[in-house]
Amino acid sequence: MSASPFHLGWFYSKGFGPKAWKHPWAGSAVHRFAKPDMAVDLARAMERASFDYLMIEDSSNVPYTYQGSHDAYLRHSVDTPKLDPTVLAPFLTMATDHLGVVVTCSVTEYHPFMLARKFNALDHVSDGRIGWNVVTGSNDGGAQNYGRDKQFPHDERYVIADEFMEVTKKLWNGWDEDAVVLDLENGIFADGSKVHPAFHEGQYFRSRGPLSSPRSPQGSPVICQAGGSSSGKAFASKWAETIIASAGSVEKMKQFRTEIRAEAIGAGRNPDDIKILFLVTPVIDESRSMARERVAAAKVFDDNEVQYQLASLSRLSGIDFAQFELDAPLPELVSNGHQSMVAGLTGKVLNDVIHTSTLSGGNDAYVGTPDEVAAIMDEHMQEVGGDGFLIANSYFSRRYATEICDGLVPALQKRGLTRTAYEHQNFRDNLLAF
Ligand SMILES: Cc1cc2nc3c(=O)[nH]c(=O)nc-3n(C[C@H](O)[C@H](O)[C@H](O)COP(=O)(O)O)c2cc1C
Repeated sequence: MSASPFHLGWFYSKGFGPKAWKHPWAGSAVHRFAKPDMAVDLARAMERASFDYLMIEDSSNVPYTYQGSHDAYLRHSVDTPKLDPTVLAPFLTMATDHLGVVVTCSVTEYHPFMLARKFNALDHVSDGRIGWNVVTGSNDGGAQNYGRDKQFPHDERYVIADEFMEVTKKLWNGWDEDAVVLDLENGIFADGSKVHPAFHEGQYFRSRGPLSSPRSPQGSPVICQAGGSSSGKAFASKWAETIIASAGSVEKMKQFRTEIRAEAIGAGRNPDDIKILFLVTPVIDESRSMARERVAAAKVFDDNEVQYQLASLSRLSGIDFAQFELDAPLPELVSNGHQSMVAGLTGKVLNDVIHTSTLSGGNDAYVGTPDEVAAIMDEHMQEVGGDGFLIANSYFSRRYATEICDGLVPALQKRGLTRTAYEHQNFRDNLLAF
C-alpha cells in the first residue's frame, strides 16, 4: 500500500544567479543569469506539477575563504554572483497562480522592521504565496559587508534569530484583520483601535511599530528553516512551518523527523504543522543504466571542478580547504559556519568528499527511470513517516526542470503520491492540506 500523499519543494540552489553555465543544456541561461527568465520557466513547470514551493537560496558576499582570495570563486562562479532574491520573487508569483515562493533572508543582515515590511508587501502582491527561509549567516565575508568583523558565534546567532522572530511576529500581528474599514460613506479609511504598535525593546532589537501596511493575506510568511545543529533544530521546532533538511540516508531522515516532532511537541506545537522536506537530487533517464552513466560521468573531475568543490566547501565552513591533502583523511574541524555539514567530514578523505557532492547530491538512491525513482521515493517516504522531498540540483538547467516536472512528477502522481491540483489559494493552506 502507498503512503499518504507527500509534499514537494524545490531548492533553487545558487540563488538568483548563474547555474550550470558551462555545462550542456545551459542555453541562454549563460548570458541571462541576471534576468528572471530561467526561474520563471522553472516556477511554471513546478506549478504544472503542483509543487508546494520554490525556495530561493541566498548568500550575499563574494567569498574569499579558499586560498584567501576571491579569484577561484569568481573564475568558477562558486556561489557568486547572486542578485537580491526578494527582487526575483514577484516575477515568480506573477508567472504562477498557486505556487509558494520562499525567499532566503538573514536575520544578521536585516533589521526586523525592514524584513517584516518587505515580506508583508510580498505576501500582499502574491495573494498569500510567500515564505521566508530564516537563515543566520555563516561566512565572515557576509558579516563584513554589514559592518562587523565576523559572524556572531554560532549559537548566539540562533538567540538573535529567536528575538528577530518575536519582533517580526509582533509587527505582522499589529494590524487586526478588520482594521482597514474603507467606509466611503463616513469617510473612514482604517480604525485606529485595531492597529497596535509593537513597542519591542529587547536584547538585540528595538522597534516601535506598527507596521506601515495592513495585515497581508497569510498574516505572515510561511516560515522555512534549515538548521541541522542542535540550536538550529531547537529554533526550527519552535518557529518553522517547513524544514528543509539534508540527511544522507533514510535512517537519518527518519531520525531527524522523529527528533524535530518530539521537540515541537515539547515547544507546545502540533508536529503535523511542520512539514519536513528532505533534499534529494533524482537523476532521471530513459533507462536505469543511462541514468547511472550520467551519475558516473559527473564524478569524473577536471582540475577546475576540484577547485570549484574545494572553494565551495571552504565558503560553507569558513575553513580554507586549500590547506588539506586531497588523498588524506580530514582532521577534526571546528566551524563557526555550517556546523552540521562540517561535523560529518572528520576522518573522511577529502577527495571522496568532493566526489560525492556531485550530480546526485551524494545520494545515488534516486537514479533511474521516472517510474523506478517514484517507487523508491514512495518506499523511502513510508519508512521516514511522511512530509516530503525537496528537489535540488547544483548543476540546474531547464532540461532538469523538465525531467523532474514532466517526467518524475507524473509518475509520482500516477501512484497517488503527490497532488494533481492545488486545494487552496494560500501557500500555508496548501502546505497544511495533508
Ligand atoms: C537545504 C538547505 C538549504 C539552505 N539554504 C541556505 C541559504 O539559502 N542561505 C544560507 O545562508 N544558509 C542556507 N542553509 C544553511 C542553514 O540555514 C544552516 O545554517 C545550516 O544548515 C547549518 O545548520 P546550523 O546553522 O544549525 O549549524 C541551508 C541548509 C540546507 C540544509
